[in-house]
Amino acid sequence: MPLTLAIKFADLDTGFDDELSGSILLFAGKDLAFGARAKKLDDALDGQLRSSAEVADFSGQAKRHIDVLAPSKMPNARVLVAGLGDVDKMSTNDWVLAGGRTAGLIAGLRSASAVIVVDIADVDDIAGVTADLAMGAQLRHYKFDKYKTKKNDDSDDGRPATKLEKLTFHVADPEAARAAFVARQAIANGVCIARDLVNEPANTLGPLEFAAECEKLSDLGVEVEILDVAALEMLKMDSLLAVAQGSDRPARVAVMQWHGNKSDSDKPLCFVGKGVVFDTGGISMKPAGGMEDMKGDMGGAACVTGLMAALAGRKAPVNAIGIVGLVENMPSSKAQRPGDIVTSMSGQTIEVINTDAEGRLVLCDLLWYARERFDPRFMINLATLTGAILVALGKERAGLFSNDDELSVALSEVGEATGEKVWRMPLGAAYDKLIDTPNADMKNIGGRLAGSITAAQFLQRFVKDTPWVHLDVAGVAMASGKTDISRSWASGWGVRLLDALVAEKYEDRE
Ligand code: BES
Ligand code: MN
Ligand code: ZN
Repeated sequence: MPLTLAIKFADLDTGFDDELSGSILLFAGKDLAFGARAKKLDDALDGQLRSSAEVADFSGQAKRHIDVLAPSKMPNARVLVAGLGDVDKMSTNDWVLAGGRTAGLIAGLRSASAVIVVDIADVDDIAGVTADLAMGAQLRHYKFDKYKTKKNDDSDDGRPATKLEKLTFHVADPEAARAAFVARQAIANGVCIARDLVNEPANTLGPLEFAAECEKLSDLGVEVEILDVAALEMLKMDSLLAVAQGSDRPARVAVMQWHGNKSDSDKPLCFVGKGVVFDTGGISMKPAGGMEDMKGDMGGAACVTGLMAALAGRKAPVNAIGIVGLVENMPSSKAQRPGDIVTSMSGQTIEVINTDAEGRLVLCDLLWYARERFDPRFMINLATLTGAILVALGKERAGLFSNDDELSVALSEVGEATGEKVWRMPLGAAYDKLIDTPNADMKNIGGRLAGSITAAQFLQRFVKDTPWVHLDVAGVAMASGKTDISRSWASGWGVRLLDALVAEKYEDRE
């Protein structure tokens, strides 16, 4: 149920005349720079906005605001002025973040609707900026509360917690803003799909239920295939199946294809996600503390699914494939044991030293399959793969491992631009050696050291020379903290990053 906030666009001169009641928000740049419409409103209020700003020592600084209650000319209204700071220096992402902060401010007022005037001095692409603000608002508004039976109970001061339902953006060219918002809305929707999947607990989201969510993308024109256990056995994905064998819930692999560019004969772009719906560790079981977080161990798959929804939703002119491996890692009498040796789809054998290093066992078969079937232009896999990446990078950045410098640089750039940041980590023969074993072609863990890197080395043994990136998202997909555009445990990390990668580097090529 994403996108519960209705966003409307309206003309600059409607809806907030002297009869206005309710909440209205304007923006101010540095030195309290108002746009013409904001100035007009201030004049109508006898300069009360400027005088209030002065009293509050507010001059349009970013992240500050004033709240003018019941101005004498509009006794039923409440007018907020939100500061933006130096508008010239604002990037697209800064506008998205500002939209998130604005929505947060408005939600705090506890009115069901509000009006936002987007008339800002020194902004050229006002329609684009408005759409960015609206997207930020949409993302900020997301809340996972479907299991709260008493939704209005969370006020801490006795007032009913009225939920914001509608934002109307008043802008010079509402048609242009609406048009610019179409793609942003598809992206926000994709992020919210990813968040919903990660937030959903494992009792209600198993491999079958996740696969059913993937199938829903066919409404957007995505071609969805679900591979069941018989199909996976035929394909010899025995490494993936070994992870699933301890669970009563059977494995699934979903293959989602978006053909957005029928005339493009180039190879498709491919995204692969780890979808462990719950990771107990298996027989090498995890300690109890914090294990509930492992309902989010399908964060990679959630991102891939959200991304496919975003690309299809905005009708991106590319051909892209999303593949997710959906399994549950459980201990049982049927579960795989430490010391078991499995043969992956590639034919390479793996000694399973630790059943908690299960993500790589899922991904290795998916990467091999993706390469064999689609011969993609690149493969980017996302996985909540190692706790060690949290030790290395914290919750600020995902770890990036790659055999391709160009793709790595492109992703790093797009990461800085979208705020979904990555940091490249090393790969190499000396690390690769750490997963050698006398008993099979490789083992599924290295030693105590360089845990995120040995996991990546393992994956690299299945990609040959296809340009490939592994994003270890264990630190960023969930529990990574609240931001201007996320109040949710699940961040939906990666949807905006990869959508921007596709949009900026792989669309409209000659
Ligand atoms: N899903 C975990 C990694 C993880 C940890 C994700 C914390 C999110 C937060 C993964 O399957 C795992 O258990 N990795 C092990 C690997 C080890 C056994 C080599 C780990 O990180 O401890
Ligand atoms: Mn694990
Ligand atoms: Zn895991």
